[in-house]
Amino acid sequence: MKTIPAATLRRLAQAARAAAKKSYSPYSKFAVGAAVLAGSGKIYAGCNVENASYGLCNCAERTAIFTAVAAGEKKVRAVAVFTATPEPTMPCGACRQVINEFGPRAEIVSVCNSTRRIATTLDALLPAAFGPDDLR
Ligand code: THU
Repeated sequence: MKTIPAATLRRLAQAARAAAKKSYSPYSKFAVGAAVLAGSGKIYAGCNVENASYGLCNCAERTAIFTAVAAGEKKVRAVAVFTATPEPTMPCGACRQVINEFGPRAEIVSVCNSTRRIATTLDALLPAAFGPDDLR
């Protein structure tokens, strides 16, 4: 897979940071923004959306991915996550599984309010994943 230029990853991280401002998180008060670099090269952003029925809360990563898919995208090349914390936040297990569906080789970058930053891959976060090929 082609490596993603640093400038593109910076734009992705910026989109995630902006998306966190839209977070609907009255229960956890933990605002998360995410952005996805899709197969077309377009960026789709999302935030976490909580619900009074707590189990229905949707993470920012999944909001961004579902928005991309609803726009016709089928591939996720990279995902950026932003939280206004001193340390970066990594995608939860459920989001790793959803990323795997569309981007098993996706790059992941987590950024926060400090200069701390984690750059990794979905492969490293979800080794030996169950995915579409298992159902063929
Ligand atoms: N959350 C995300 O949006 N993404 C993550 O990677 C971790 C957790 C959200 C879910 C919930 O709205 C809040 O953060 C606290 O768990």
